[in-house]
Amino acid sequence: MTDREKWKRDAAWRAAELVTPGMVVGLGHGTTARHALERIAEFLRTGGLEGLRGVPCSIQVEAEARKLGIPLTTLDEHPKLDLTIDGADEVDPELNVIKGGGGALLREKIVAQASRREVIVVDEGKLSPALGTRCPVPVEVLPFGWKTHLRFLEKLGAEVVLRFASAGEPFRTDQGNFVVDCRFGPIADPHALARELDGRAGIVAHGLFLDLATDLFVAGPVGVRHMERGRPSPV
Ligand code: A5P
Repeated sequence: MTDREKWKRDAAWRAAELVTPGMVVGLGHGTTARHALERIAEFLRTGGLEGLRGVPCSIQVEAEARKLGIPLTTLDEHPKLDLTIDGADEVDPELNVIKGGGGALLREKIVAQASRREVIVVDEGKLSPALGTRCPVPVEVLPFGWKTHLRFLEKLGAEVVLRFASAGEPFRTDQGNFVVDCRFGPIADPHALARELDGRAGIVAHGLFLDLATDLFVAGPVGVRHMERGRPSPV
């Protein structure tokens, strides 16, 4: 296991300790959140989490959770979740994050909005002084008229690339939509950018998760740090 993979696991395992019996928990998508999923399954097997149910953030996570024996439920049955553990692509000092590198941004955001606690787990390579410095902002668009958004996104300052699946076909989200990756560089005002994206018909979701994360577990060579919204900066 590489150092980075170990840090991802360390952060996810610490977050999994927040899960208690009877909770309804959002199950995030991605390689870091996967460690939390496995840890929760382990706690369930050893009898530590009676009555727990999970709400998966993607079709893939749903299949993984079923394989691991995690009881599942839906947002229709439980519109309010106790907490969600999810990864991120980039995290700023205010615990605002970019998500969607794995393409599950819409369901992840719906689940995050429904969660009392949105717990983000990352290795320290994801920390950034300003969102957009390290990675593009994924923007999920309806296939209908998707090209009409390209100029709009460029005018907002992005270099825009349609995401492809490995087969050479455009990547499709769980909703059947496309993802356009928008490289902005450091974003001076993420809230203003989010408002622009939220106001555009045909843009279904974007990867700016602002004011949603309540907790951050960040792991590196010196161990795992736990930050909470409103507490001192992780960078
Ligand atoms: C999935 O759509 C994403 O939001 C992931 O949570 C994010 O890309 C982090 O993924 P990794 O943990 O695999 O880096």
